[in-house]
Parts: sequence; C-alpha cells; structure tokens
Amino acid sequence: MSLNNIKSVDTNVIELRRMTVTDVDSVFEIETLSFKSPWTKEAFVNEVVKNQLAVYFVVTLDALVVGYAGMWTVVDELHITNVAITPDQRGKGLSNRLMERLFEFAIENKFTSMTLEVRTTNAVAISLYEKYGFKGLGVRKGYYQDTNEDALIMWKEF
Ligand SMILES: CC(C)(COP(=O)(O)OP(=O)(O)OC[C@H]1O[C@@H](n2cnc3c(N)ncnc32)[C@H](O)[C@@H]1OP(=O)(O)O)[C@@H](O)C(=O)NCCC(=O)NCCS
Repeated sequence: MSLNNIKSVDTNVIELRRMTVTDVDSVFEIETLSFKSPWTKEAFVNEVVKNQLAVYFVVTLDALVVGYAGMWTVVDELHITNVAITPDQRGKGLSNRLMERLFEFAIENKFTSMTLEVRTTNAVAISLYEKYGFKGLGVRKGYYQDTNEDALIMWKEF
C-alpha cells in the first residue's frame, strides 16, 4: 500500500519503535522531503549502527515508516537532532506521539533536560515544541548556512 492511499489515521495501526538500519531508506526519503539541507543516508546509518550516543524512534502507520525523531545523549541532557513526519501524514497528531515517546525515554532514563535548535521561521515546529513545554532561551544568528537563517535554541527541564 502506498502512503497516498492512507486517508485517515483513525482506523490505522500506529506504532512507535526504535529505528534500525532497515528503516534508513524510509527515513532518508522523509528527510529529503522535509528539510532544505537533508542529512545523507550514510549519516543515518552511522546514527543507528555506530553512534552509541544516538537514540532514534520511528512512528509507523500500518507498518510503514511515516516519521522519525532522533536525539543524542550528552551526559544528563538529550539533544534532539531531527523530527519529521512525511508530508502526506502531517497534521494528524503523529509528531505528538513521537514527542511523547521521547519524553517517556527521558523520564525512564532519568535525563534532566532536553534541547534543540529550530529555524526561527519554522512556526509549526516551534508550536509543537512549545506545546510540550520547551522554551526559547536563545538565538544563534545565521546558524543555518544554507539560508543564513537564525536558530532558536529551546530547552525543556524535567
Ligand atoms: C513539525 C512536524 C514534525 C509536525 O508534525 P505533525 O505530525 O504534522 O504534527 P501533529 O499533527 O502531531 O501536531 C502536533 C503539534 O504541532 C503543531 N502543529 C502541527 N501542524 C501545525 C500547523 N499547521 N500550524 C501550527 N502548528 C501546527 C501544533 O502545536 C500541534 O499541536 P495540536 O495537535 O495540539 O494542534 C511536521 O510539520 C514536519 O515534519 N515538518 C518538517 C520537518 C520539520 O520542520 N521538523 C522540525 C525541525 S526542528
């Protein structure tokens, strides 16, 4: 079944699980559809195979990967690296499910805070993070070299 044939998530089976190397092709496809300067496929392979600090989850809809979120563990902090949902399935609450899974991981493993950078123009993502209690605590000027956009640095304490 193609993703385009899924009309509603109401009757579909949504699951969250740790990302594995077999998910890399799907994740890379979503990444390229979602970001101006996407990570490479090799970068994702490295994250799930080699990087001991990386923790990645995927969200599946009827067993198809439709989104992912990643973090790096840095002492007692979690740094979110990327969050994306495939364009056809946005606005249906799937990133809420991913965020809740990240928080569950943070609490289970006794991390004290979570941080991320987001383009100051990305109102949808900022709204998502604010909903989950992240606060904008700083701006890095010209952080995104592709467009020279500023990054908002957001933090959440547990
Ligand atoms: C940001 C993104 C992950 C949100 O995923 P999503 O599954 O569409 O979001 P959800 O449907 O779960 O909505 C979660 C929250 O996001 C925010 N949101 C989602 N769509 C929104 C929109 N069109 N306008 C404003 N806020 C929106 C809301 O706060 C929403 O909360 P609500 O469910 O109480 O309304 C998705 O838009 C995406 O993949 N964007 C491209 C990649 C990206 O920018 N990632 C973040 C990089 S830092």
